[in-house]
Amino acid sequence: MSLTQDIAVRPISGALGAMIEGVDLGRDLDNRTADLIHKALLDHCVIFFRDQKMTPEQHIAFGRRFGTLNVHDYVKAMDGHPEIIVVAKNEGDTKNFGGGWHSDVTYLEQPALGSVLYCLEAPAFGGDTVFANQYLAYDRLSSGMKRMLDGMTAIHTARHVYGPQGRATTSYAESLKAMKIVGSTEAEGEIEHPVVRTHPETGRKCLYVNQGFTTRFKDMTEAESLPLLEYLWQHCTQPEFTCRFRWEPGSVAFWDNRAVQHYALNDYQGQRRVMHRVTVNGDRPV
Ligand code: SIN
Repeated sequence: MSLTQDIAVRPISGALGAMIEGVDLGRDLDNRTADLIHKALLDHCVIFFRDQKMTPEQHIAFGRRFGTLNVHDYVKAMDGHPEIIVVAKNEGDTKNFGGGWHSDVTYLEQPALGSVLYCLEAPAFGGDTVFANQYLAYDRLSSGMKRMLDGMTAIHTARHVYGPQGRATTSYAESLKAMKIVGSTEAEGEIEHPVVRTHPETGRKCLYVNQGFTTRFKDMTEAESLPLLEYLWQHCTQPEFTCRFRWEPGSVAFWDNRAVQHYALNDYQGQRRVMHRVTVNGDRPV
């Protein structure tokens, strides 16, 4: 059944993030509601919902309203649902997935438009996710720095994370048993993206280098690139550009991966946290 729903959009911080009320994501959304959600995503960069109930099929159907879905190259998907990865941490695990500042899958030629993360089990405390607005990160740079970065290209790769010797495929195997991450030599490839991308829908510029997958600038070594990259990583995640979300079972976050970085806090040792994620494919950054 397709029903029009009255929805409210309430910002949760000065930088980004809004809570959406009055939507049942388990329903087949009418076009007006889907358009309002899309607009809220573009306006607020990350949107949140509480008290949702979605089957894997409904979660997939919601994601598909915004584009085709990604099948993760290295994280084993949920049985029968290749579009869903189970982002989980068990009581005995010490590492978590996404526990560092990053944008999803920027090592791809066409990185994600966004991800929809649905909480099934939340720790009693801890395990929040922090998001950072990369439009603000660009806007707050000096005019000289903007001029220099506007013409630059960065190299992104998953080698150090999902390559055969990558940290997710070696040290994570013992310390994150709740997930199965399968490394591959395919992760060794490199891809070029502009350091400053223009958002394909809003037309606004955002900074597009992340500590997870950006390793250097084009035609420069890692050693030469690191001082400026480290400055940008520190600059683009400063507290004034962020919001922080506390999870409960039934909470959903949908972030615009083109304009946002995120960080899953690993501050809940001894507790379990289980989420389902679908990721909507995006286009090539320009
Ligand atoms: C991710 O990076 O997709 C995981 C985010 C989270 O678990 O909060």
